[in-house]
Amino acid sequence: MKKHAPKAALCHARSIVMPWSVIRSDTSPSRHLSQTPPAVFSVCQRESPARLFNNEEILHLNTYDFMAYVGKSVINPGGTPGRDKILALVKPQPGTRVLEIGCGTGHTACHIARRYRCHVTALDISPAMIDTARQVVQTQKLQEQVDCRVGDIAHLPFADHTFDSVICQAVLMFVDKQAALQEIRRVLRAHSRFAGLEFSWRCEPPPRVRDLTYRICGCRTLEFYSAAVWGQHLQQAGFDTVESHEQPFTMLSPSGFLRDEGVANSLKIFGRIVRRKANLQRMGEIWQHFSRYTEYFSYTVLAGVTPGHPA
Ligand SMILES: C[S@@+](CC[C@H](N)C(=O)[O-])C[C@H]1O[C@@H](n2cnc3c(N)ncnc32)[C@H](O)[C@@H]1O
Repeated sequence: MKKHAPKAALCHARSIVMPWSVIRSDTSPSRHLSQTPPAVFSVCQRESPARLFNNEEILHLNTYDFMAYVGKSVINPGGTPGRDKILALVKPQPGTRVLEIGCGTGHTACHIARRYRCHVTALDISPAMIDTARQVVQTQKLQEQVDCRVGDIAHLPFADHTFDSVICQAVLMFVDKQAALQEIRRVLRAHSRFAGLEFSWRCEPPPRVRDLTYRICGCRTLEFYSAAVWGQHLQQAGFDTVESHEQPFTMLSPSGFLRDEGVANSLKIFGRIVRRKANLQRMGEIWQHFSRYTEYFSYTVLAGVTPGHPA
């Protein structure tokens, strides 16, 4: 196991100076996780974001609702390289049915539909995310190929053996892993593939860093695991040919941000963040935390195949 570097050295070596990095953020326990409201706010981006939330609400948005709110399209620790890794494992075939669970803003679902000519069902528990995903699907003129619907990974609203492949990015870490994986296995056909990616601890963090990470993410049930433990979850759920590979976390770095969003969208996001102090403060605390403790973070690409005889 890696030795923990002294905090000061870590800060010095890892801090990345972005405009939001100079905003002092409140990471004190006074902003308790238990005060975090549920993720029920609209992330609709057609209206001016400034009109949608008051400052207090922005400071209490969980990380992924906040990222969607400021216009980020990719909201998972793997970014576009992670997405491409899981798609290389799933290898969607033209004309097949793919389920994406926790689709967020719908960009991955559109990418799969266009690139692999599949029918994609994009599901998310948040009606606001599904509204955003529907707008993205409409803008990309993919209504024939991408169907967006609200639903819970633990109670998938589909018949047994409906899909040829299932993917999910940064969702299992919030939910009951076995309940979710059993549902994924149920809706997959025999000999079909699931692939996903989830946040991992690259090395065991001190409890203070772990708790602060979960608190800053603003989700009560969040859990990161090592790649080995993510793999064990898939095995326990009855998947065969399980793979779990640890990958470097680069999403919250300037180059990772540009890579995932492109120049034009990065500038739009930047504009939304800097025009409001609460946005700068929320982005500042997220960015500073993940930069300061970056050596603890990675993500895991995981995949498994359903057994020959349906569950
Ligand atoms: C970290 S975001 C990832 C979004 C998207 N997969 C991406 O990579 O950009 C997590 C997503 O999972 C959704 N989610 C959380 N719990 C869920 C559940 N029980 N069932 C389905 N979706 C869920 C959230 O609403 C959110 O859109």
